Amino acid sequence: MSVLELRDVVVRFGSGAHATTAVDHVDLVVDDRSVVGLVGESGSGKSTLARAVVGLAPLRSGEVLLDGQVIRSAGKRQDRAVRDRGALIQMVFQDPYSSLDPRMTVGDSIAEGIAAGRRLRDARRTVGGLLDLVRLNPDHEHLLPRQLSGGQRQRVALARALAADPEVLIADEITSALDVSVQGAVLNLLRDIKDETGVSVLFISHNLAVVRYLADHIAVMAGGSVVEFGDAVQVTEQPRNPYTRTLIAAVPTLLR
Ligand SMILES: Nc1ncnc2c1ncn2[C@@H]1O[C@H](COP(=O)(O)OP(=O)(O)OP(=O)(O)O)[C@@H](O)[C@H]1O
Ligand SMILES: [Mg+2]
Repeated sequence: MSVLELRDVVVRFGSGAHATTAVDHVDLVVDDRSVVGLVGESGSGKSTLARAVVGLAPLRSGEVLLDGQVIRSAGKRQDRAVRDRGALIQMVFQDPYSSLDPRMTVGDSIAEGIAAGRRLRDARRTVGGLLDLVRLNPDHEHLLPRQLSGGQRQRVALARALAADPEVLIADEITSALDVSVQGAVLNLLRDIKDETGVSVLFISHNLAVVRYLADHIAVMAGGSVVEFGDAVQVTEQPRNPYTRTLIAAVPTLLR
């Protein structure tokens, strides 16, 4: 079981007249073994929501639950056991150039991820097995990030995240910084990984066509709120919210 649930989550930056509510009372569920796509225009709060889930942005109110257990809530320091459970949610970021340590070999980066997972359960993953999972060659183990292409780096970032044997993977615009020619391959890889590992995925993109390709359900975010949530086919073919319709109009050739 790996169900991620956000209950009434609020994230606010700054205070007084200069405060920005980046995430405004969001409820969202990513069911066991499912992919929820999160779409919305730039600045709608997608990354902030993701960062709040992994503890990189503080909750002003609300809570985040994993399999029914609260792992983050506003204003409370979690005890060690609960914090460790938080490592069962792993995130991969947009920019594979800055998310990997430039001085660490691919193998060492992935091994660090395995070590993080061992605290939680006997992660039987190996560097070789993870390279295989992300379709990289065993020879890549000894290379440094600068010796890899953008697409290969993103595969390493995925392997590192999967090394901890997560229950939930959050992918925030993971193909946006890549050349168009490799975007499809990384999306297919993510789909295979989901099938092979059973990990639940929160897949963030501003591109509704890409999200529709992967997601079972789609959540549409605007101004910090989720304005529409539903089955991926329903949201893209019979959107209820006018804002969703404008997003669809922005990708006419792929969806119609
Ligand atoms: N650390 C921060 N301090 C202050 N404001 C922030 C911070 N991070 C995000 N914001 C603000 O929160 C809002 C949501 O930003 P966020 O990065 O979550 O949007 P996004 O939907 O991920 O956009 P994009 O599609 O461009 O990645 C924006 O108004 C942004 O300026
Ligand atoms: Mg973002």
